[in-house]
Amino acid sequence: MYSLNEVSVYTLLRMAFVWQLLSFAVYLVGLLAIATFFFDNFKSVLCIVKSILEPYFQPQLPQTLVEKFGKWAVITGSTDGIGREYAKELAKQGINVVLISRTKEKLIAVAEEIEREFKVKTKWIVADFSKGREVYTHIERELSGIPVGILVNNVGKMYDYPDELSKIPEDTIWDLININVAAVTIMSRMLIPELKKQKRGAIVNISSGSELQPIPYMAVYAATKRYVRCFSQAIERELAEHNITVQCVTPLFLVTKMNQYSDTVMKGGFLIPDVKSFTRSAVFTLGKSTETTGYWTHGLQYFFMKLGPEWLRIRIAHLMTRQLRREYLSTHGKKV
Ligand SMILES: NC(=O)c1ccc[n+]([C@@H]2O[C@H](COP(=O)([O-])OP(=O)(O)OC[C@H]3O[C@@H](n4cnc5c(N)ncnc54)[C@H](OP(=O)(O)O)[C@@H]3O)[C@@H](O)[C@H]2O)c1
Repeated sequence: MYSLNEVSVYTLLRMAFVWQLLSFAVYLVGLLAIATFFFDNFKSVLCIVKSILEPYFQPQLPQTLVEKFGKWAVITGSTDGIGREYAKELAKQGINVVLISRTKEKLIAVAEEIEREFKVKTKWIVADFSKGREVYTHIERELSGIPVGILVNNVGKMYDYPDELSKIPEDTIWDLININVAAVTIMSRMLIPELKKQKRGAIVNISSGSELQPIPYMAVYAATKRYVRCFSQAIERELAEHNITVQCVTPLFLVTKMNQYSDTVMKGGFLIPDVKSFTRSAVFTLGKSTETTGYWTHGLQYFFMKLGPEWLRIRIAHLMTRQLRREYLSTHGKKV
């Protein structure tokens, strides 16, 4: 027979053991969550460091972008902003470029500038991705016979300024779907057979930091950019075995004409780099990491943003877009 004291000591010991077990489980879950968070945030940096060190340990591996991916790149939306700078950065590395945009005069000017400056071949294709399905036959015909090694799916559209869904013209919404969602999908599908044929290649999809959480007043734009990220991550796995790398780039605000609705953004600054510095840095990560914000101050912002829960980020994003909307309406003399 146990005495009363022996029973209570035994019960206390059992409770202490269960408590220890529970605390251990909580510590373990916490540790795993922190490790996953840090790995998620720093894997791009780790991959870049690994790629920088690789030539010292495996000098037989291809080093330059031409050696890795071939002599030709296609860049959509390449007469302005990020696309234009991607074309120039790739040309600087000896890659011939195919430029695709809507405006013939701008295409000719950029092509001439690139040929003059970097002594590479260029080709331009006039295409308006907002037209949807009909543009791709023409693009495919124009690209036939070109050994494309890099596809930069850059073309993208935002609303004229942040606003509530019901106030966005229906045509703008179709444009966003055709340009931000369909173009990246169909262009990739079109060029994957060519990349497979060459047994190497790269697809760079320009998403946006707005993919990180839903954004009120930019609802459709942010959702299309989330699509780009999901799509990129999935085809990255599909194509890895074919030696084709798929990179998703998620920049935050940059000084380009897409942000012309806001003087605050267009002023630029530490967190809002100019497009040239951004693109130089983003192209440096090509072939090194599959996911990147492209620029270190954007990486920092991403890191701190991810610390907050999604519901909080949505509310903060709402405050920001509301302020940007107000700024646009008041500078254009419209009713807020
Ligand atoms: N700027 C930012 O802060 C920022 C941040 C994150 C992500 N992004 C993403 O980065 C990409 C490039 O943005 P950006 O700021 O560089 O844009 P941008 O300065 O407005 O340039 C857009 C380019 O796309 C072309 N284009 C526009 N509509 C087109 C259409 N319907 N069909 C074919 N070409 C078209 C334009 O040339 P034409 O007018 O001659 O056609 C221009 O060359 C987009 O996907 C955007 O979502 C931008």
